[in-house]
Amino acid sequence: MAGRRERIILATDLGIAMAEYLDGDEEAVDAASDLEFMQDPDDRPVPFQFDILRVALIEVPAGRLIGVMWWYPIPYGPTLSRTSWNIGIKLISEARGRRHGARAARLLVRYLFDTTEVDRVQATTEEANLPGLRGLELAGFRREGILRGITIRGGERRDMVLYGLLRSDLEPDDDTDHTPCCG
Ligand SMILES: CC(C)(COP(=O)(O)OP(=O)(O)OC[C@H]1O[C@@H](n2cnc3c(N)ncnc32)[C@H](O)[C@@H]1OP(=O)(O)O)[C@@H](O)C(=O)NCCC(=O)NCCS
Repeated sequence: MAGRRERIILATDLGIAMAEYLDGDEEAVDAASDLEFMQDPDDRPVPFQFDILRVALIEVPAGRLIGVMWWYPIPYGPTLSRTSWNIGIKLISEARGRRHGARAARLLVRYLFDTTEVDRVQATTEEANLPGLRGLELAGFRREGILRGITIRGGERRDMVLYGLLRSDLEPDDDTDHTPCCG
């Protein structure tokens, strides 16, 4: 977009870069995506406070915005040792089919383990979301169970599959830059 400055690149892997999020990125990605598994909007106040943090996904070297990822803390208890990051991802329709989702999730996992002391990253997706399930498995997440009725989509309460990845699940060489996650 005209007038935009260069983004700060945080990490790269085989044709994609995880980069600084700029205002309007999520709207631009939504406009170029099918919104098949998007949960219903819900603006009601919640009884806790947290920030949702975001990064952009860029095709390299072209520089095109192809997706966004976000994360927020899940407090399973009142200490950092009982906190998990929950991540989400969305790619524009045209950028799908090349395992970029798994590659991007792996970059974000490494970034979160490198820059925070939280030892667990998790993600949820619906059982019917086959690219979502498979992408998490390709990124190294383990299936942990079903969260019954945890989301509302299309006016109906729905189950989600919970996936988790612990710092101790990473291979010893996973802390090197530019290690492809999944070929
Ligand atoms: C989830 C998402 C990021 C994955 O995109 P992607 O990385 O391009 O995914 P791919 O199309 O490369 O598919 C990933 C894997 O799922 C498999 N897959 C895709 N569609 C499939 C289907 N209908 N049946 C079985 N497997 C399927 C692919 O074959 C691939 O596995 P393989 O390479 O081992 O064969 C993308 O679909 C998306 O943005 N969806 C909308 C938002 C969303 O649902 N996010 C996830 C929940 S937060």
